[in-house]
Amino acid sequence: MPKEQVSHHYNCNICKDKGFIFKDINGYEVASKCKCKLKEEILSKSNNSGLGDLFETKTFETYRTEEGYQRIIKSKAIKFTKEFLSGNRRSLAILGQSGAGKTHIMTAVAGKLIDNNIEVKYFIADEIIQRLNACKYDEENYNREFNKIANASVLFIDDLFKSSIQEYYKIESINQEDLRIIFQIINYRYNKNKPILLNSEIHYERFAELDQAIIGRINEMCDYEYLISIKPDINKNYRLKRR
Ligand SMILES: Nc1ncnc2c1ncn2[C@@H]1O[C@H](COP(=O)(O)OP(=O)(O)OP(=O)(O)O)[C@@H](O)[C@H]1O
Ligand SMILES: [Mg+2]
Ligand SMILES: [Zn+2]
Repeated sequence: MPKEQVSHHYNCNICKDKGFIFKDINGYEVASKCKCKLKEEILSKSNNSGLGDLFETKTFETYRTEEGYQRIIKSKAIKFTKEFLSGNRRSLAILGQSGAGKTHIMTAVAGKLIDNNIEVKYFIADEIIQRLNACKYDEENYNREFNKIANASVLFIDDLFKSSIQEYYKIESINQEDLRIIFQIINYRYNKNKPILLNSEIHYERFAELDQAIIGRINEMCDYEYLISIKPDINKNYRLKRR
């Protein structure tokens, strides 16, 4: 009698739910995170983590484009992704109005990159600041943490300076220590030519008033083409729209 076939059902057939795979690099087997793991990490950290299906719902297809600014955001993001996948590894920054779909579009971009086996690490900016602040008096630890964050293939930083500014229109109200930490990360990647996906509620002109060193580098990393800024405009807050 033939042995009964044991049929496994895996959520991920690539790694068989182990979360990592082995890649052959010059004859060496090197463990690396599977796509499913990378996506799971983004899901577990992002604001909408309760949804669980972010990568299915926050896509280019589901981003609506009735308004001009939405068409610009979407078409730039798609062009950026195409060019990135063909080897042009620039950065993408979407700044400005809350609820305009910055995280939605950036998640769509990240999903496409991960689908193409590119490692994307997701951090809410405050998490970076907290993690580095927590070990700032312990050099060895600090360097280790710093390298973990700064050396990701693609670094997705969401909600930059969300809690670093007391009052949006008061320049002096930004936390200087936060500014310094973020500058270190951005400058490191700028020098190494490593791409960043950046979202911030602070629009471009405001940002330039706050800090020219950071925004200048980001603009250059985005090749002056992939920095999109949406000025404060409550009508562009999708969360407040009647649908
Ligand atoms: N053009 C759009 N089409 C479909 N859904 C959209 C669109 N714009 C925004 N949304 C939805 O509205 C909600 C808010 O968007 P999102 O979280 O991307 O905004 P945000 O710009 O990142 O805001 P914040 O600065 O507050 O983080 C999300 O559920 C998102 O999917
Ligand atoms: Mg957001
Ligand atoms: Zn997997």
